Amino acid sequence: MNSQEIRSKYLEFFKDKNHKIVASAPMVIKDDPTLLFTNSGMNQFKEFFLGNTEPKHLRVADTQKCLRVSGKHNDLEEVGKDTYHHTMFEMLGNWSFGDYFKVEAIAWAWEFLTEVCKIDKNSLYVTVFEGSNDADQLGQDAEALELWKKIVPESQILFGNKKDNFWEMGDQGPCGPCSEIHVDIRSDEEKAKVSGASLVNNDHPQVVEIWNLVFMQYNRKANGQLEVLPAKHVDTGMGFERLCMVMQGVKSNYDTDVFTPIIREIETITNSSYGKSEETDIAIRVIADHIRAVSFSIADGQLPSNTGAGYVIRRILRRAIRYGFTFLDTKEPFMYRLVKTLSDTMGKSFPELKSQKGLIENVIKEEENSFLKTLDQGLVLLDTMIASSKSKEIDGRKAFELYDTYGFPIDLTALILQERGFSLDEKGFDKAMQEQKNRSRSASEISKEDWTVLSKDMEQEFVGYDLLQTNVKLVKYRKVTSKKDGEQFQLVFNVTPFYPEGGGQVGDKGYLEASNGTIIYITDTKKENNEIIHFSENLPDNVTETFKAVVDEKQRQSTEANHTATHLLHQALREILGTHVEQKGSAVHSKYLRFDFSHFSKVTAEQLIDVENFVNARIDGNLPLQENRAVPMQQAIDAGAMALFGEKYGDAVRTIRFGKSIELCGGTHVKNTGDIWHFKITSEGAVASGIRRIEAITANAAKEFYFENNRILSEVKALLSNASNPVKTITSLQEENSKLKKEIESLQKDKAKNLKGDLQTEIQSLNGIDFLAKKVDVDAAGIKDVSFEMGQNKDNLFLVLAAENEGKVVLSCYISKELVAARNLNAVTVVKELGKYIQGGGGGQAFFATAGGKNADGIEEAIQKAKDYLR
Ligand code: SER
Repeated sequence: MNSQEIRSKYLEFFKDKNHKIVASAPMVIKDDPTLLFTNSGMNQFKEFFLGNTEPKHLRVADTQKCLRVSGKHNDLEEVGKDTYHHTMFEMLGNWSFGDYFKVEAIAWAWEFLTEVCKIDKNSLYVTVFEGSNDADQLGQDAEALELWKKIVPESQILFGNKKDNFWEMGDQGPCGPCSEIHVDIRSDEEKAKVSGASLVNNDHPQVVEIWNLVFMQYNRKANGQLEVLPAKHVDTGMGFERLCMVMQGVKSNYDTDVFTPIIREIETITNSSYGKSEETDIAIRVIADHIRAVSFSIADGQLPSNTGAGYVIRRILRRAIRYGFTFLDTKEPFMYRLVKTLSDTMGKSFPELKSQKGLIENVIKEEENSFLKTLDQGLVLLDTMIASSKSKEIDGRKAFELYDTYGFPIDLTALILQERGFSLDEKGFDKAMQEQKNRSRSASEISKEDWTVLSKDMEQEFVGYDLLQTNVKLVKYRKVTSKKDGEQFQLVFNVTPFYPEGGGQVGDKGYLEASNGTIIYITDTKKENNEIIHFSENLPDNVTETFKAVVDEKQRQSTEANHTATHLLHQALREILGTHVEQKGSAVHSKYLRFDFSHFSKVTAEQLIDVENFVNARIDGNLPLQENRAVPMQQAIDAGAMALFGEKYGDAVRTIRFGKSIELCGGTHVKNTGDIWHFKITSEGAVASGIRRIEAITANAAKEFYFENNRILSEVKALLSNASNPVKTITSLQEENSKLKKEIESLQKDKAKNLKGDLQTEIQSLNGIDFLAKKVDVDAAGIKDVSFEMGQNKDNLFLVLAAENEGKVVLSCYISKELVAARNLNAVTVVKELGKYIQGGGGGQAFFATAGGKNADGIEEAIQKAKDYLR
């Protein structure tokens, strides 16, 4: 079976067992503060396990794009070195939300592997949780053990500890014991020599875990304690690439048809061959793996950047580039050339790769170019470091600087040092790294108390589309403390008018009013695991009473104007620039809006005006809001609604329509485009290759913008003698100004010439030296010109000149070169000495130096001292 067929077989199998087949959630997570990337199939269902939301289907199956490169599940450094770990991989999964449990999960997994996939039963091993003696005090998973015993010989059942057989998504959240299924794909001869059982969970490349069946029965709380979940669930995850390896009878994931087309392409592009040396093989695997992670992230809307998820992506891409650079000798961008092959092989199952191919290529190419430049600069710095090092060991702190400031990878530093016969002070490097980590950790550390639950009724209702105030009751609350925001409270209500940050739109602010009139300010609203969390600085005195919750209406209204304008802007850009324009991000604040979109060149000034006019025409058209809160997804798409890749949509969606603009959107909007009043673009620029950003303002911010401009114009007019046409008047002033400047310059030159003649006559002979010290009336440039001209053809001149221009004093000393040598004189010493009197300092060369100062009263004394000095 090829990989397409294997994927379909899995989904068909569970469809037959009454599972709803759903789409993969985006790999980049946008609304969960605890995770940057989907690291397991179950992430998108977290809220069901926690009981925050009722699932529509109790049985679900899918293939999920996952990325394990940060946080609790991080495989990055392993990837490429072995043949079965990946950054991005597909996880096949089936779930039960409070429906079936261990009996069915175990039986079906076995049936699928042995009957559908026809994997030899004797090559399979299963593991069971042995229990724990730590604070959790968990017993053995006897239930699973009994079930396995019925179908698997006991010699193939093994026990595992908490690390391997108790699955937790993160430090908090749903968790439970698990049974893993491992497969031994070694040859019969090898199997006869060493038992497969002894190799399970022992990092053997041919005895690997393929499926993990998690039996979710607990929730790990912030204080570390486990609480039993209200209902029991199943969460299984199978490594798709590993299953392909087993089914296709090969010994490495990279030998399956998931990877071979990419590897062939790498061989062609880099003129290398896979399977010849361990070093190049690792590099090829790293690149084949990483191109997937990076391309899928970009397709999901996450571009490489300097912070957060974007930084993780940048690091992955850079890791691949430097493996190519070091082991495949790639000194030019090459990764972007793999995108086509990737999109050809996976585009059918993941159409986002196909539709965004051009963008993905562009972004990767630009990153490659800039990192290759960094590598070049880093190599130069490293050379300097080596040249100036007094010992054969290079200071770890210096290497850290290279890593931290220039992004130069430390393993590359170590490798180059080794090649040149130097070594790296690794301890010093680690120490510097640790210190930096400590600094950033303490800045970002957040401690959360456990929720205090006041009501078990967890259903929450958002009424903010219709109401800006309503009576609410607290369902639960907790205290969170962080260095950044200090102490805050998070409150959850039974019903709320507060819009939680999402879809680019900021969260609502406002207040709660208690019955005694006390006000508690709500500073922000966010969504976490599908719960609406309100942030406040304090807690009400009486948490059980009913409060009046009031949204800050002014802020909401300007935010709504900006949100609707964003939709109109999107429509305008597609109309004016073309339908290649796709939304790549947006930020809708109360004061401004920001819209990122794919487009390959600068938007011209004329196009920007067209865009503004297009949007303003729709604002003037007073288009009413047409909102539909529950349209079947397909129906919305058929009606032409814009859906974004990288967003998670349910079966039923909300559509927002203003005239011909229709978007899937959960945000809040004006009732009529007329409420936006006016739309004004304030900037246009590039965010990344192929991605542009427009910032704009509307409503009151636009009014203020025009008022402010008007005020400035009035001030300008007041300064002009002829104010009827300020542009014309200012242009002629500018012309006049530049003409005057030129005249002054030429006058200064003449003055310097005349000065020279006057000064020649004043030269005295002092100890056989031609000496003159004098205050003159020219500028600094003039002083230099005069000094050099007077010095021409003279071999014994000692000239000190000083001048004052607009409060600034300049003092210079010119000494003929012959004199410098013959009498051991130095103009720098002279100006330093004399500079004291004008309260200044300076420098220059032995034959000419200047000092700048601010004390004009000291000029006479300085001149006097010049004579003394020479005497
Ligand atoms: N959540 C489990 C895992 O990731 C099973 O899906 O291994």
